[in-house]
Amino acid sequence: MNILLTGASGFIGRNIAATLTAAGHRITPVSRSHGIDFGRMQNPADWLPHLDGIDAVINAVGIIAQSGTQRFEPVHTHAPIALFRACQHAGVRRVLQISALGADETAFSPYHLSKRAADDVLRSLDLDWFVLRPSLIYGRGGKSAGLFMRLAAMPLIPVIGNGLQALQPVHITDVVATVMRSLTATPSKQTLDIIGLDTITFTEWLQQMREAQGLSRARVIRIPFPMAMTLARLGRHINPLLHPDNVRMLQTGYRADIQPLAQFLGRMPLSVEPNLFFTDSLPTGVPK
Ligand SMILES: NC(=O)c1ccc[n+]([C@@H]2O[C@H](COP(=O)([O-])OP(=O)(O)OC[C@H]3O[C@@H](n4cnc5c(N)ncnc54)[C@H](OP(=O)(O)O)[C@@H]3O)[C@@H](O)[C@H]2O)c1
Repeated sequence: MNILLTGASGFIGRNIAATLTAAGHRITPVSRSHGIDFGRMQNPADWLPHLDGIDAVINAVGIIAQSGTQRFEPVHTHAPIALFRACQHAGVRRVLQISALGADETAFSPYHLSKRAADDVLRSLDLDWFVLRPSLIYGRGGKSAGLFMRLAAMPLIPVIGNGLQALQPVHITDVVATVMRSLTATPSKQTLDIIGLDTITFTEWLQQMREAQGLSRARVIRIPFPMAMTLARLGRHINPLLHPDNVRMLQTGYRADIQPLAQFLGRMPLSVEPNLFFTDSLPTGVPK
């Protein structure tokens, strides 16, 4: 297939690209590194010249925090909606949208709301669409997981409140496998949550990250939620990922039922294992 892959230079995108290429597909990559800025792709007409000869589109562009000209609405909402409408106009039937776990009716953060707005428009179009909502993804080079990796390496590991927030981290292998399956699966028009096999607490997640870095388990320092929010308000100026909204999302914790994904993949997703923290998507288990 000829596939337009947005976000091709990112963590998810480059893993999808490697697997697509290995499977014999041809990719048209899109990102600022490839000369296309979503900030300037706000109308369907902007996309039409890029859709000539394209069989499927995968949108894996996104930002976890706003900075400078990188704003949620143009990047997560307006450019993807313009792309989806252009697909309908150009007859590109299959469109895969990488959204995020929590971009549903419970969403409250600008991050999730801006994702959901694009998801909703895609779901309203007569296309063979898939809205894929991954949980926190880990693997070599993941930015969010990378931040947690640095937190985990501290002598005392900081957690929010009791540190018992539930996570279902998913390895990049299972995200790529779901994308590959969604390219041909019928019926289409599905929204799927992509989660890992294990539900673990935030504290346990950080402890596992220590193990992955060859460190022994560490004592935990509990930071009350209001203090964590204050620290995030200050810390966001050093690292935009430390935004108070991200602290709130972490505190909320997002969970999903594993069965729909297991049924879709024909197997269970991977369990969290220390050696997987530093690997790319594995060929194992990727359906043909
Ligand atoms: N990683 C996770 O744990 C996770 C979990 C759930 C959902 N997601 C969602 O998955 C998406 C991608 O995540 P990721 O981990 O692959 O992020 P990433 O490594 O930061 O990659 C983001 C991609 O988007 C591109 N991009 C950013 N701004 C752009 C713009 N204005 N115009 C064009 N391209 C732009 C980047 O390329 P350039 O910088 O070259 O433009 C890059 O290719 C995000 O929407 C994220 O919300 C991620």
